[in-house]
Amino acid sequence: MSRYSRIIGTGSHLPPNKVSNDELAARLARDGIETSDEWIVERTGIRHRHFVGADTTSVDLGEQAARRALEAAGLVAQDIDLIIVATSTPDMIFPSNAALIQGRLGAGGGAAFDVQAVCAGFVYALTIADQFVRGGLARHALVIGTEVFSRILDFKDRSTCVLFGDGAGAVVLAESQTPGLLASSLHADGRQAGILCTPGRVASGEISGHPFLKMDGPAVFKQAVHVLENVAREVLAKSGRKPEDVDWMVPHQANIRIMLHTAKKLGIPAEKVVQTVADHGNTSAASIPLALDTAVRAGTIRRGDTLLFEAVGGGLTWGAALLDY
Ligand code: UT7
Repeated sequence: MSRYSRIIGTGSHLPPNKVSNDELAARLARDGIETSDEWIVERTGIRHRHFVGADTTSVDLGEQAARRALEAAGLVAQDIDLIIVATSTPDMIFPSNAALIQGRLGAGGGAAFDVQAVCAGFVYALTIADQFVRGGLARHALVIGTEVFSRILDFKDRSTCVLFGDGAGAVVLAESQTPGLLASSLHADGRQAGILCTPGRVASGEISGHPFLKMDGPAVFKQAVHVLENVAREVLAKSGRKPEDVDWMVPHQANIRIMLHTAKKLGIPAEKVVQTVADHGNTSAASIPLALDTAVRAGTIRRGDTLLFEAVGGGLTWGAALLDY
């Protein structure tokens, strides 16, 4: 009997503080930094992002998203035997966000660990969880993407601070006799680490190096449109499907221009691209599960739909997954 994994529940959580481009522009103007709603919308498609308050962490956001996914799946925490959290903004150096969330949920016993693949983190985590389920190491996995990028933004750097937001999304992946996840592909090119990074480190009780996100936006843009098309074609080929079989593309929500350009190159119409970047900004590893849950709860994505996930981020890392929902 073949064993597959299938998403049986989704959840998400956004912190309540929703900040418009105009509000952010006014905040930056107080430090003499110029930006505008017009520039941000035209270049990125972003209109709002959510920011956490001082006391809220990525574990807090991830826990809420996980609880909603469990509820949607009709499971309780004790049913979960694997938790993988994709994050680049964990609460602590260790233990992992996954262990901390496992403790909060009271889901004892199973494996729990974090995956650090930045904006591609959710596709990485989902692929790893799928392998655990297929290999018989887990029956019910929680896969969570959760980020508080506002903590690593330099609000004096207008080329990055207008792009990112905070949030979390989660899925419950369950063992199934039918797929489920059809194919995935993961890649990295560490030679390009310098174009998108947060190079600070904690050493000898102090932060050394730059503790804020740095990005060469145009260089990342150029790579993104190239690798996303290729990796999407890889998962389509692996699963014997064609672009026209995709009901919904659920891309990493970094920039509407990248999302629509990739869809166009694949021959997927813009109407089939789930778009939440306007309301969420770029929430890194949280962006795909956030977009997925938003579309599922809106009734846009339905059972039986074929979904294409794809993402690229710091590392560089990139990946895609094709699945029957
Ligand atoms: O999630 C991980 C993956 N990340 C991505 O996929 C991001 C990829 N990159 C991008 O999405 C785009 O490169 C950005 C949105 C970051 C930037 O858009 P762009 O069209 O590549 O603009 P640019 O960086 O080439 O900058 C164009 C101009 C510059 O001015 P000059 O040199 O032409 O006078 C910038 O200084 O826009 C200026 N600029 C701004 N102006 C107003 C940069 N940021 C801002 C800003 N407000 N916030």
